Amino acid sequence: MLKTEVNELLTQTGPGTPAGDLFRQYWLPVLLAEELPENDSPPVRVKILSERLIAFRDTEGRYGLIDEFCAHRGVSLWFGRVEECGLRCAYHGWKYDVTGQCVEAPSEPENSNFARKVKLTSYPLVKVGDILWTYMGDPEQRPELPEFEFAQVPPEQTFTSKRWQESNWLQALEGGIDSSHVAWLHSGGLKSDALFKDTKGNEYTLNDLRPFFEVAEHDGGLFVGARRNAEDGKYYWRITPWVMPSFTIVPPRGDHPVHGHFWVPIDDENCWVYTFDYHPVRALTPEERQAMKEGHGVHSRNIPGTYRPQENKDVDYLMDREAQKRGETFSGIRGIAQQDASLQESMGPIVDRTKERLVSSDTGIIKARQKLRKAVEALRDEGVTPPGVDPAHHRVRSVAVVLPREESFIESCREDLAARPGLAHASV
Ligand code: FES
Ligand SMILES: [Fe+2]
Repeated sequence: MLKTEVNELLTQTGPGTPAGDLFRQYWLPVLLAEELPENDSPPVRVKILSERLIAFRDTEGRYGLIDEFCAHRGVSLWFGRVEECGLRCAYHGWKYDVTGQCVEAPSEPENSNFARKVKLTSYPLVKVGDILWTYMGDPEQRPELPEFEFAQVPPEQTFTSKRWQESNWLQALEGGIDSSHVAWLHSGGLKSDALFKDTKGNEYTLNDLRPFFEVAEHDGGLFVGARRNAEDGKYYWRITPWVMPSFTIVPPRGDHPVHGHFWVPIDDENCWVYTFDYHPVRALTPEERQAMKEGHGVHSRNIPGTYRPQENKDVDYLMDREAQKRGETFSGIRGIAQQDASLQESMGPIVDRTKERLVSSDTGIIKARQKLRKAVEALRDEGVTPPGVDPAHHRVRSVAVVLPREESFIESCREDLAARPGLAHASV
């Protein structure tokens, strides 16, 4: 349970809010690279941390992320023309470069230097892996580029998709560190989904519905360990890293690719979920890649031409009561991603955390909120750089292992919890 003020502190990320300032310390995913596929691609609307922006790629291939609205009279530059190294407003032809600098104001006299005095807000936009990232904070404090392993491996080893979720970012993230719902909500998918099925780990997950949680700190966030009973008195451990502010990796299953998410606030009532799957040592198979594109595993099946899932709020997530009755899906909703999203959206756009009743399996969530709050307050009150900004903090892995009863998960798995290029992940 949280007090109203704390709930607001952690969920509001617009300009000038403490958690908004926290998010502005990091490089954040802002688009998939496929959204600006070539030079002079049409501009794309972006809303992130409640700011409305326009992304474009100029004739030379430079990426720009600038204020959506023209400095002249406020027209949306989404209607603009991307031409000759700039974006030209459709109303009176003012033209901007990727830094937001106005380079032409054609209505002005030819010898006027007026255009040079006009500059829109702009942020850097950089491709790392399949994602375009931005940094919206103080340019002087700009950190090195992200080094998450899924975005560092060769392109044939990784796949990223994206979906719109109609809820605040924090309740979506909390789903990512709550491994106790998996054996319930996703029980159907564990058995049948091509990207999950046929692993020993699934048996352990489904056979023990009372996982015990233990949480360990790391420099960039937390390792959330979920312990279940295995055979011969051993324990099956699933360890989920959370890197602040909103990156999690799901523990692996067998030799399947490893997946995870980034939850990026659009505004306080919506977020983008960037979902990746990668394998540290091999290419994804054509079948795996196809399954991911079709919205299996943790990806979503989106309405063509959009990033909105077909199973969305307006159509009651295509609830299938018969499939629910037959036990094919536990909640009647198709697909792991929308099983999660439907329930998280059902809490309301921003869940009222003053009313919840947390239990021991919510330990990961409790610790994550505490760490987040501490970081928000330390930044606000003392200007302390939060965990997860340093790219060294990104180089973590999730782990799924069977350990003897007496062994500490964090001591036994320390090496496996670090990204080690060229080495397979620890998984059963
Ligand atoms: S509103 Fe953009 S040029 Fe006039
Ligand atoms: Fe889930």
